[in-house]
Amino acid sequence: MELRSAQQAVLQLLRTVAPADLSALLQWMRTTRDFDELTAENNDVILKSIAEDLRSCLPLETMLSSEHLAIRKLQEQPTPTVHVDAFLYDEDFIDSLCEKGKMSRNYCTVCGSHQTAPLGFISHSFSLMELKFIYHHVLPDLSGKILVDVGSRLGTVLYGGYLYSSAAHLYGVELNGDFCQLQEMVIQKYQFSDRIKVLHADICTQGSLLQNADVIIMNNVFEYFLNEAEQARAWEYISHNVRKQGSLLVTVPSLEESLSGLQTNIQLSSWVEELPLNYDVYPQMDIDREALEQIHLYRIL
Ligand SMILES: C[S@@+](CC[C@H](N)C(=O)[O-])C[C@H]1O[C@@H](n2cnc3c(N)ncnc32)[C@H](O)[C@@H]1O
Repeated sequence: MELRSAQQAVLQLLRTVAPADLSALLQWMRTTRDFDELTAENNDVILKSIAEDLRSCLPLETMLSSEHLAIRKLQEQPTPTVHVDAFLYDEDFIDSLCEKGKMSRNYCTVCGSHQTAPLGFISHSFSLMELKFIYHHVLPDLSGKILVDVGSRLGTVLYGGYLYSSAAHLYGVELNGDFCQLQEMVIQKYQFSDRIKVLHADICTQGSLLQNADVIIMNNVFEYFLNEAEQARAWEYISHNVRKQGSLLVTVPSLEESLSGLQTNIQLSSWVEELPLNYDVYPQMDIDREALEQIHLYRIL
């Protein structure tokens, strides 16, 4: 039902309420938390609808021919690895693609034989579950806060932040112009432009944005997209500009892991403090706990 018809239906229903109960009912409608579940479910539906829109614009491997380095790095993995975007394709979706023969979870170790081994999977986006974990269990109330997603790609962190948080401004910075166009398409279609802004830029040109941010999200931003010298330079830039005391940095994987093997002068102990996270918040659900455990939260000292 569209908005106008839904409004008419609600008014019609209210006209049938016993006059003595009407004001109590209206008071309940203004204050109840009974609608929370309804809006939460609706937010999931909106994100799934965005994923459907994006799937129709992108190839199954969700990588663009302009991503030369990322494609080469994927091919150079020690075991055969494919990119499956976790926001666009959840486990059930992958199963159905495997059943239709459009995707495989295994590769043949001896050509022509039945000996197979599991393929490695990586995702360049957060899944719906990871987004909900971040906004519901990792970050505090973001009312009035500025959030920056470094390397916003399909924009998942921004749309999740729009729907699951009260952040005042959500900025995405993305090097790849094709992905910026896709994000703009979603922002227009779903009318997110009052709080989301995407910048087509190298994060290493966005000092003042980083200096003013209250929350910075970095999901495996550089490893697959920059060579080691560029990664070291980008991390130095981040550590010089993300300095607002008390601001929060969410990373995948940990800062220690991201920086290991890179030549930088970053002193983690004088820059950040890691805050513990509870990864057991969905005990009854069949979730990818390993993926959640890759998420780390730091407070800037
Ligand atoms: C792994 S994706 C992260 C996607 C998204 N933040 C999420 O969590 O769903 C990393 C993205 O960072 C972008 N990127 C890499 N280096 C960058 C830089 N220096 N400035 C801006 N974006 C960059 C890449 O083009 C890629 O789209």
